[in-house]
Amino acid sequence: MSLNPPGPTTDSAETRGRLAGARITLCVCGSIAAYKAVSLLRLLLKEGAHVETVLTHAASRFVGSATFAGLSGRAPLSDMFAEGVSGELHVELAARSDLLLLVPATADLLARLTSGRADDLVAATVLCAGCPVLAAPAMHPAMWSHPATQRNVAQLVGDGRVELLGPVDGEVASGARGFGRMLEPEAILERAIARLAPQDLRDRHLVVTAGPTLEDIDPVRFLGNRSSGKMGFAIAERASARGARVTLISGPVTLPTPPGVRRIDVRGARSMRDALWQTLGQDLSGADVLVMCAAVGDFRPAETSDTKLKREQQQIALELVQNPDILAEVGRAREASVPLLVGFAVEASAPARVLEYARGKLASKRVDLIVANHASDAFGKDDNRATFVTPSGDEALPLLPKRELADRLLSWIAQRTRKSD
Ligand code: CTP
Repeated sequence: MSLNPPGPTTDSAETRGRLAGARITLCVCGSIAAYKAVSLLRLLLKEGAHVETVLTHAASRFVGSATFAGLSGRAPLSDMFAEGVSGELHVELAARSDLLLLVPATADLLARLTSGRADDLVAATVLCAGCPVLAAPAMHPAMWSHPATQRNVAQLVGDGRVELLGPVDGEVASGARGFGRMLEPEAILERAIARLAPQDLRDRHLVVTAGPTLEDIDPVRFLGNRSSGKMGFAIAERASARGARVTLISGPVTLPTPPGVRRIDVRGARSMRDALWQTLGQDLSGADVLVMCAAVGDFRPAETSDTKLKREQQQIALELVQNPDILAEVGRAREASVPLLVGFAVEASAPARVLEYARGKLASKRVDLIVANHASDAFGKDDNRATFVTPSGDEALPLLPKRELADRLLSWIAQRTRKSD
């Protein structure tokens, strides 16, 4: 299965979230890191997944089944031949899973999987699974580096049926350091989401701009705005997860680069414009889509002082000159409908005016979609409430986490850039 991005507006946790509708089987093995599987379960549920848990007998020595049952509302499975089980549990479980997560995966489990054993419910289900299987190993570094484990890992990865996430270098339970520490639940969650994302943007190059632009007044002061970059980075992250090649041109922000994304850092509007034209090329053939999410400063100081302005002066008049309107330039240069152009419009006016301004920008910048939002909903927040304004009408969206808003936008983009292959 490939996951559909969140569907039309509903507010239940199960139909919202980046794993809405996904059926995930979380298999927990006997390691101290098993307690982290509890955090992972919570994260999966929060993203809307239906999760069934399987505990090996050794796992239940580390974490109680009541914890998993309490969180997921279903008692964990453990025994292939438990009372009340009709049919072949491992076959059914494999068939109804969109993804198997083996967290933590012990050295013993890796050894059993490598030799194709089916001696407990976890191993038998993995052997039967047609869906992706992600395993997050956790063990003492001596166990991980042992030739037997390394041989098993090479074989398992070579067989191509189990993808390993980690382990990473760090401290393990005993206090020892080295490779063997399990990847953190948040990182495992992101890999699960990426693995289930629809690949509906494959073969497309998206250029996304993000963050503020800063215009220097002197070596220590600048003109800027409150954009955090979160929206643009969410678009870049989700586009990459959905198979696109992504170039992210970002103003100064403190966010990490999303996996798989090529990032170009810029400062002022003019350097953003240069980086963008270099990426697009004069004939605009360098991208299939441009999402202009950056809050580009409209003005910059007419002059930048080389030295710090001193306070002796009673007053300073700051002369500002206009920056180029980057999106409008691209809109004017575009002859056909490629690249698809998406702009953002953040306003601080009454809601009716927000849409009126957005329609004006749609026409004047000659773009295909304006994502209109209000400054009080957008800046610095993790959620955003927006309206898609297009020549054929408006679509008002509810308050959504920025990643979900990104997915709505990317679904719109995927539809309009569908390739006939
Ligand atoms: N934009 C741009 N270059 C600028 C200003 C804005 O490319 N110098 C882009 C933004 O990235 C956004 C869209 O144009 O996608 C709308 O930005 P916004 O600031 O809302 O509009 P402005 O044209 O600057 O109009 P105003 O500030 O007067 O509302």
